[in-house]
Amino acid sequence: MKKNTMTLTNNMTGDSYEYKILEGTRGSCVVDIRTFFADSGMFTYDPGFTATAACESTVTFIDGGKGELRYRGIAIEELANNHTYLETCFLLLNSRLPSEEELYKFDLEIRHRAFLHEGLRHLFNAFPDNAHPMATLSAAVTALSTFYNDHLDMTHEEEFLEMAHRIISKMPTIAAFAYRHSLGIPFIQPDIDLGFTKNFLTMMRAYPGGKMHLCANGHEDIKDVEVRALDTIFTLHADHEQNASTTVVRGVASTGAHPYVAISSGISALWGRAHGGANESVIAQLEYIGSVENVEAFIKRAKDPDDDFRLMGFGHRVYKNFDPRAKILKNLQDELREELNLDTELMAIARKIEEIALSDDYFISRNLYPNIDFYTGIILTALQIPKSMFTPIFVIGRTVGWITQWIEFKKDKTSKIARPRQLYIGE
Ligand code: SDX
Repeated sequence: MKKNTMTLTNNMTGDSYEYKILEGTRGSCVVDIRTFFADSGMFTYDPGFTATAACESTVTFIDGGKGELRYRGIAIEELANNHTYLETCFLLLNSRLPSEEELYKFDLEIRHRAFLHEGLRHLFNAFPDNAHPMATLSAAVTALSTFYNDHLDMTHEEEFLEMAHRIISKMPTIAAFAYRHSLGIPFIQPDIDLGFTKNFLTMMRAYPGGKMHLCANGHEDIKDVEVRALDTIFTLHADHEQNASTTVVRGVASTGAHPYVAISSGISALWGRAHGGANESVIAQLEYIGSVENVEAFIKRAKDPDDDFRLMGFGHRVYKNFDPRAKILKNLQDELREELNLDTELMAIARKIEEIALSDDYFISRNLYPNIDFYTGIILTALQIPKSMFTPIFVIGRTVGWITQWIEFKKDKTSKIARPRQLYIGE
């Protein structure tokens, strides 16, 4: 009977070390090397954690080879096509979809918690109007922790859930206020008569007093198709296993700091263009490429090792196949092309990039496929959301994932402070 262990042999000394292979319920196994330094006096070496599992988790499962994504075991296609973002939030937090009554109560709580303390509102005035909303968002969420600092020593599940509901409901308000501050226009307060996503679009778009744009046939309200499109985008961004920003959130959780400063750290990590900031860079890149005729030249630059130009929205540490979220967004683009009057020139450039890249050996040999950021921007542009707000939209969607992973970390009695070692190559 084969043992479920792996033996590492140091060929310099002949010493051998045997470690347990742990199997999950889906996906790759892990080798439990927690005693390796004590056994061998050596560290493993894995910059960027390309082959490292940092924790056990029951939240999200990704199969990078198959292009599969599940939240609490439910496929992303099922959630994006048949459930709302709020249902997905309830699923992530409670490990099951809500009953009708549970959803009604959850929705009501999220609506009522959407308001910000007046003191927090004044924080926005400290920022120049050209401040990037991601900087304002990160600062405002850190400031939010000062209004709930009595919760630092939480130990009960219901305290964790209250912190989670609060930050999920306030994030759209903070993002909309950051946007309106950047335009120098008055803030629109949340409206408890509106659902999560419609409320956000209203806080972004409405005139002072909450009135929508006036047009020939009376008030041009926010179209249902726009709400559905944005709600799907929030669902697709809700969580994604141990990505860079979630790793940062867990790292801050491991020192025992306030959950909202952990979320604020996640916002800062997400901002980078190698991560969530890519969605803003994709549109900037498509606009910079300017026409279908110019695509070939830029593909050449992306392949040139001496040119740091990269195709934004392409490639992924885990997906070595199509990102399933990108597939859903691509179908959504086709569905909404007429209804939302999508920018067909930008879409044509994106499709040309995809067509060339997916048949070019440079990309095929490196398993570089379009990721979620490649398609989001064209839909968000059609929803009259400016580029600078693309990554804040990612933040709104991902907040539930970050706080769910924070709760999982806090409930894991075996969790330890994150403290990796190094290979010292100094003097
Ligand atoms: C997100 O992790 C997550 O789950 C993240 C995310 C989430 O939901 O949380 O999915 C969201 O961040 C999506 C990714 C958004 N980022 C981008 O679109 C930026 C462009 N892509 C990359 O810079 C890159 O692909 C990463 C950062 C996404 C992944 O980088 P890896 O896995 O560390 O891969 P790598 O940089 O080592 O690249 C491997 C090879 C290199 O070539 P060689 O050195 O082997 O010759 O592929 C090349 C890279 O030069 N390469 C690219 C490329 N991405 C990788 N070449 C051109 N264009 C690209 N976009």
